[in-house]
Amino acid sequence: MAMPFYHRMGNVPPKRHTQFRRPDGALYREQVMGTKGFSGIQSILYHHDAPTEIAEASLLGERAPRYEAPGALRHRHFRTAGLAAGGDAVEGRRYVLGNEDVRIAVASPTEAMAYYYRNGDGDELLFVREGEGAVETMFGTLRYGPGDYIVLPVGTIYRVVPDEGAGTRLLVVETNSWLAPPKRYRNDRGQLLEHSPYCERDIRPPGKLETFTDEGEFEVRLRKDGRLHAHVYARHPLNVVGWDGYLYPWILNIGDFEPITGRVHQPPPVHQTFEGDGFVVCSFCPRLYDYHPQAIPAPYAHSNVDSDEVLYYVRGHFGSRKGIEEGSLTLHPAGIPHGPHPGKAEASIGKKETTELAVMIDTFRPLRVAEQAQGIEDGGYARSWLTAPPKP
Ligand SMILES: [Fe+2]
Repeated sequence: MAMPFYHRMGNVPPKRHTQFRRPDGALYREQVMGTKGFSGIQSILYHHDAPTEIAEASLLGERAPRYEAPGALRHRHFRTAGLAAGGDAVEGRRYVLGNEDVRIAVASPTEAMAYYYRNGDGDELLFVREGEGAVETMFGTLRYGPGDYIVLPVGTIYRVVPDEGAGTRLLVVETNSWLAPPKRYRNDRGQLLEHSPYCERDIRPPGKLETFTDEGEFEVRLRKDGRLHAHVYARHPLNVVGWDGYLYPWILNIGDFEPITGRVHQPPPVHQTFEGDGFVVCSFCPRLYDYHPQAIPAPYAHSNVDSDEVLYYVRGHFGSRKGIEEGSLTLHPAGIPHGPHPGKAEASIGKKETTELAVMIDTFRPLRVAEQAQGIEDGGYARSWLTAPPKP
């Protein structure tokens, strides 16, 4: 699922499903790309050449993360900033957490993807912690920079091309479903309402549509049912001359999310940015603190009785935590409460504002830790709330 507004780029015929011809007289090839079996949102794309010319298909192998064996339920902390940069934005993903609904990974690509990619299992969200570059897609190219949430709908053929020397660092959420602005932010026609922390003007569709008509061998990798496939196309996969509809990639910058504040502590749902099947994504942005004269700006301890909570620390000082750094990723699982570190509630009193910037992902089914993440774990985190050392 994607955006609640209609958009058009390039050239499309005045009437859908009618003759639309290239300068040489041949027909452009129309593709309806839709969700939920023609009942969900869709776009109609016009290709220079048919999008069905697959010369070869091969299975590259499993792409599901391997998870650690179940252990004691405890709070976890992974320092992702220490991971060496390398690879591209898809093959370079290091999985940290996952369940039946989402997989959470980080990537610090140094190379442009040498192939195109599409996720056939669900929408993807790339959050840019650092760096600049481009995402070339069949709907056009999106330029990205720090703080951008890049939403890539299921089936979108794309390639990430980081700018040289710009040090791209991504948080990646691969879904098995869809991702969209929360329904409660929208009216019955899909328009973002006045109480929504962002609106249509904050949304950036692709900025430029280029049509490539080259012939040759073009590899498009596909993730489907946890397996990676390679399809070799005889023609360039980005050969769209125009498209229109509601399904397309787009960007929201976290800096355009307008935080909601109050006299007393506001609950996490005020930070919600996206929803999907089995999870939500929230943005914790720099904001003024609670202004009741007796307010305690640090959050209360809370029990995620039925959801796991993941925080990815982006920038600034995070008022309720210690021992956290930029790129830290914490998991506070359902079943046990969590809250500010000792002393942080007292220290927050009288503070006027916070500079914290963080992305939160709450999942409704338990997350498992990927084996790839074990090497970057801060093993002492689970005991970091103790105010007195445990007795030997
Ligand atoms: Fe929390």
